[in-house]
Amino acid sequence: ADGDPEKGEKVFRKCQACHAVGEGASNKVGPELNGIVGRPAGSIGDFKYSSGMQEAAAGGLVWTPEHIAEFLTKPKDFVKGTKMTFAGLRKDDEREDVIAYLSTFK
Ligand code: HEM
Repeated sequence: ADGDPEKGEKVFRKCQACHAVGEGASNKVGPELNGIVGRPAGSIGDFKYSSGMQEAAAGGLVWTPEHIAEFLTKPKDFVKGTKMTFAGLRKDDEREDVIAYLSTFK
Protein backbone atom coordinates (compact mmCIF):
# COMPACT_ATOMS: atom_id res chain seq x y z
CA ALA A 1 0.00 0.00 0.00
CA ASP A 2 1.09 3.58 -0.56
CA GLY A 3 2.00 5.66 2.44
CA ASP A 4 0.55 9.00 3.49
CA PRO A 5 3.18 11.78 3.43
CA GLU A 6 1.28 13.91 5.95
CA LYS A 7 1.27 11.12 8.49
CA GLY A 8 4.88 10.47 7.56
CA GLU A 9 5.83 14.00 8.54
CA LYS A 10 4.76 13.15 12.09
CA VAL A 11 6.62 9.83 12.03
CA PHE A 12 9.74 11.74 10.92
CA ARG A 13 9.81 13.41 14.34
CA LYS A 14 11.46 10.19 15.49
CA CYS A 15 14.26 10.77 13.00
CA GLN A 16 14.77 14.50 13.36
CA ALA A 17 17.25 14.41 16.21
CA CYS A 18 19.65 12.82 13.75
CA HIS A 19 18.44 13.66 10.22
CA ALA A 20 17.39 16.76 8.31
CA VAL A 21 15.45 17.13 5.05
CA GLY A 22 14.43 20.13 2.99
CA GLU A 23 16.14 23.23 1.71
CA GLY A 24 19.48 23.77 3.37
CA ALA A 25 19.43 20.38 5.11
CA SER A 26 22.82 19.45 6.48
CA ASN A 27 24.25 16.39 8.16
CA LYS A 28 23.58 15.94 11.88
CA VAL A 29 24.28 12.74 13.79
CA GLY A 30 23.12 11.10 10.55
CA PRO A 31 23.39 12.21 6.93
CA GLU A 32 20.87 14.60 5.36
CA LEU A 33 18.12 12.63 3.63
CA ASN A 34 17.15 14.75 0.61
CA GLY A 35 16.64 12.45 -2.35
CA ILE A 36 17.11 9.36 -0.18
CA VAL A 37 14.54 7.34 -2.15
CA GLY A 38 16.64 6.02 -5.02
CA ARG A 39 19.93 7.30 -3.57
CA PRO A 40 22.89 4.91 -3.39
CA ALA A 41 23.72 3.98 0.22
CA GLY A 42 26.63 5.74 1.86
CA SER A 43 26.90 8.39 -0.84
CA ILE A 44 27.01 11.71 1.05
CA GLY A 45 30.61 12.68 0.53
CA ASP A 46 31.14 14.75 3.67
CA PHE A 47 29.47 12.26 6.04
CA LYS A 48 31.56 9.66 7.90
CA TYR A 49 29.68 6.37 7.51
CA SER A 50 30.30 3.22 9.54
CA SER A 51 32.38 0.52 7.91
CA GLY A 52 29.21 -1.59 7.79
CA MET A 53 27.43 1.03 5.71
CA GLN A 54 30.51 1.50 3.52
CA GLU A 55 30.52 -2.24 2.82
CA ALA A 56 26.81 -2.19 1.96
CA ALA A 57 27.50 0.73 -0.37
CA ALA A 58 30.39 -1.10 -2.02
CA GLY A 59 28.02 -4.04 -2.50
CA GLY A 60 25.73 -1.82 -4.52
CA LEU A 61 22.94 -1.13 -2.04
CA VAL A 62 20.50 1.49 -3.34
CA TRP A 63 17.78 2.93 -1.11
CA THR A 64 14.67 1.75 -2.92
CA PRO A 65 11.44 2.05 -0.88
CA GLU A 66 11.69 -1.68 -0.15
CA HIS A 67 15.25 -1.47 1.17
CA ILE A 68 14.50 1.60 3.28
CA ALA A 69 11.55 -0.30 4.78
CA GLU A 70 13.75 -3.29 5.60
CA PHE A 71 16.42 -1.04 7.13
CA LEU A 72 13.87 0.85 9.23
CA THR A 73 12.36 -2.38 10.55
CA LYS A 74 15.57 -3.25 12.36
CA PRO A 75 18.57 -1.20 11.23
CA LYS A 76 21.22 -3.41 12.80
CA ASP A 77 19.85 -6.54 11.14
CA PHE A 78 19.76 -5.05 7.65
CA VAL A 79 23.16 -3.30 7.74
CA LYS A 80 25.54 -5.19 10.01
CA GLY A 81 27.67 -2.77 11.98
CA THR A 82 25.58 0.30 11.21
CA LYS A 83 26.06 3.20 13.60
CA MET A 84 22.42 4.21 13.26
CA THR A 85 21.40 3.57 16.86
CA PHE A 86 17.67 3.49 16.30
CA ALA A 87 15.52 0.57 17.41
CA GLY A 88 13.39 0.71 14.28
CA LEU A 89 9.79 1.32 13.24
CA ARG A 90 7.75 -1.79 13.98
CA LYS A 91 4.55 -0.86 12.20
CA ASP A 92 4.21 -1.31 8.43
CA ASP A 93 2.16 1.85 8.04
CA GLU A 94 4.69 3.99 9.94
CA ARG A 95 7.39 2.80 7.57
CA GLU A 96 5.25 3.35 4.47
CA ASP A 97 4.19 6.80 5.66
CA VAL A 98 7.69 8.03 6.48
CA ILE A 99 8.98 6.75 3.12
CA ALA A 100 6.12 8.62 1.36
CA TYR A 101 7.16 11.76 3.27
CA LEU A 102 10.85 11.30 2.42
CA SER A 103 10.01 10.80 -1.26
CA THR A 104 8.69 14.40 -1.38
CA PHE A 105 12.27 15.72 -0.88
CA LYS A 106 14.18 15.40 -4.13
C1 HEM B 1 21.66 6.43 8.21
C2 HEM B 1 16.85 6.88 7.76
C3 HEM B 1 16.49 7.60 12.56
C4 HEM B 1 21.30 8.07 12.79
C5 HEM B 1 20.38 6.42 7.68
C6 HEM B 1 20.04 6.08 6.33
C7 HEM B 1 18.70 6.20 6.21
C8 HEM B 1 18.18 6.62 7.48
C9 HEM B 1 17.86 5.93 4.97
C10 HEM B 1 21.04 5.71 5.24
C11 HEM B 1 21.59 7.01 4.67
C12 HEM B 1 22.66 6.89 3.58
O1 HEM B 1 23.01 5.78 3.18
O2 HEM B 1 23.13 7.96 3.14
C13 HEM B 1 16.33 7.14 9.02
C14 HEM B 1 14.92 7.32 9.32
C15 HEM B 1 14.81 7.45 10.66
C16 HEM B 1 16.16 7.43 11.21
C17 HEM B 1 13.82 7.37 8.26
C18 HEM B 1 13.57 7.55 11.51
C19 HEM B 1 12.51 6.68 11.27
C20 HEM B 1 17.75 7.83 13.03
C21 HEM B 1 18.07 8.22 14.39
C22 HEM B 1 19.43 8.34 14.45
C23 HEM B 1 19.96 8.03 13.14
C24 HEM B 1 17.05 8.46 15.50
C25 HEM B 1 20.32 8.72 15.63
C26 HEM B 1 20.08 8.20 16.87
C27 HEM B 1 21.82 7.63 11.58
C28 HEM B 1 23.24 7.45 11.33
C29 HEM B 1 23.34 6.96 10.01
C30 HEM B 1 21.98 6.85 9.49
C31 HEM B 1 24.37 7.73 12.31
C32 HEM B 1 24.61 6.50 9.31
C33 HEM B 1 24.68 4.98 9.55
C34 HEM B 1 26.00 4.31 9.22
O3 HEM B 1 26.94 4.94 8.71
O4 HEM B 1 26.07 3.10 9.53
N1 HEM B 1 19.23 6.73 8.36
N2 HEM B 1 17.04 7.24 10.19
N3 HEM B 1 18.92 7.73 12.30
N4 HEM B 1 21.10 7.27 10.47
FE1 HEM B 1 19.07 7.21 10.34
